[in-house]
Amino acid sequence: MKTKVTSSLPAALETDALVAILLDQANSNSNGTDKKPELKVAASDGTVQSAAADLLASGEVSGKPLETNLLHKPAGLKAKRLLLISGGGAKKFSSYDLRRLAGTAVRTLKARGIRTFAFIAPPAISADEAVRAIVEGAHVGNFDPDYYRSDRKDQKIDEVTVIASGDTKALEKSAEEARIIGDSQNFTRDLVNEPSNRMTPTILAERAKKMCAEVGLKCEVYGPDKIKEMKMGAFWSVAQGSDEPPALIVMTYEPAGTAAKPVLGLVGKGITFDTGGISIKPADGMEKMKYDMAGGATMIGAMRAIALLKPKVKVIGIVCATENMPSGKAQKPGDVQIAMSGKSIEIINTDVEGRLVLADGLYYARQLGCTHLVDAATLTGAVVVALGYANAGVFANDEDMYSRFKEANTKAGEKMWRLPLDDEYKEQIRSSIADIMNTGGRWGGAITAAMFLKEFAEDTPWIHLDIAGTAWMEDQKPWIAKGPSGIALRSLVEFVKSFA
Ligand code: BES
Ligand code: MN
Ligand code: ZN
Repeated sequence: MKTKVTSSLPAALETDALVAILLDQANSNSNGTDKKPELKVAASDGTVQSAAADLLASGEVSGKPLETNLLHKPAGLKAKRLLLISGGGAKKFSSYDLRRLAGTAVRTLKARGIRTFAFIAPPAISADEAVRAIVEGAHVGNFDPDYYRSDRKDQKIDEVTVIASGDTKALEKSAEEARIIGDSQNFTRDLVNEPSNRMTPTILAERAKKMCAEVGLKCEVYGPDKIKEMKMGAFWSVAQGSDEPPALIVMTYEPAGTAAKPVLGLVGKGITFDTGGISIKPADGMEKMKYDMAGGATMIGAMRAIALLKPKVKVIGIVCATENMPSGKAQKPGDVQIAMSGKSIEIINTDVEGRLVLADGLYYARQLGCTHLVDAATLTGAVVVALGYANAGVFANDEDMYSRFKEANTKAGEKMWRLPLDDEYKEQIRSSIADIMNTGGRWGGAITAAMFLKEFAEDTPWIHLDIAGTAWMEDQKPWIAKGPSGIALRSLVEFVKSFA
């Protein structure tokens, strides 16, 4: 999608569709509209308000968030159409909501065959923040997963213009950065969307290599021999059961003239299909386990964005990619595996494979000199029990690292919620035969999974993101299609930028 920024008056702009936000001045709460809504167009000049006057006076518009109303030949405007999207209560309105409205605009307009539009940045949000939110949100809305449908319409918005006043040159730069982030998020979603027969570890590695070559990143891919030679016994224990060879993908971004430290390590779970292994999963819903590589795909997409945005900090992206399969070569419950770090692991359940591949991924990142670690993984069903589909789980072993991440996360407008990592939980993963076991039982399952990973991050400042409930949209929403969400990429990119 092309992006443009203009400071021209909304009324003067010739466009297929002008999009404006309606905010309710009377009700601060966006849902429980107790008072009669007082709807105002969020724009600094009154021409759009006048164009919408009859509609608003009709009482047909409720003002509930994401409600859309489309007017043709709006009076006094050069635009062919005026799309009004309600943003709920004015007081609570933020760039988080703005992203969703931009996504909603894209999905509403592209379904009607419209290819270009202009969006009025609401004056209550700083122009820079608004431009970023609109462009990012528009990209989120522009993705559709129906690649293999013969009747795929491939409707896409080609160009979005943001109407915002301020230093146009600076705002154009912000729009360009947001475009890079939006494209990278959709790049990740493309990878996650592919079924496992079309996204094997080898194919994932090839896609990473191709991307790295395009944006000028170093990329190394290691196969089974190297994984065994490096004594990645935890990673290999999962990979050994599959006929598809595993891939350890290492992407390096090292801009000239940066300090030797810090080195940020982004480690992703890349299970291209999770059958559960010998502890096999029930058939019902198993098809969804093609998205068990979402954490890995997020890191590949994040590295793409980083390479293009060029922050002054060294970053290494690591993806441990393999299938988790049952076979005559597969590991069995009760087996003991030795991780790369030397720690021994008793395998209680072979379906608890994500933490095994990440254990070696995290340790390897530290070996490569990473001073700060972030991992992302569709790690546990338990995080979905705890937080549902709205929030990803965040864990941290270091308070400075957490506050830095939290700030980046807020900027990025992604919902995440911190869960604890108290020492008490460690009891649950104690084994009688080895250093630790790979499951901690039913209670606090997302936390004991994180406790397991903590054993391999050790004293390196580390953040763990459990995206099992958030990496896949179960239903479509007005601003986003059903399917891969691309969650965490924007927070990761903001986090990396905070070190530059
Ligand atoms: N990949 C799954 C976790 C998952 C669950 C991701 C739902 C996305 C949606 C992970 O490898 C797994 O199988 N976890 C099991 C562990 C259990 C057997 C102890 C789980 O959470 O159900
Ligand atoms: Mn599993
Ligand atoms: Zn898994």
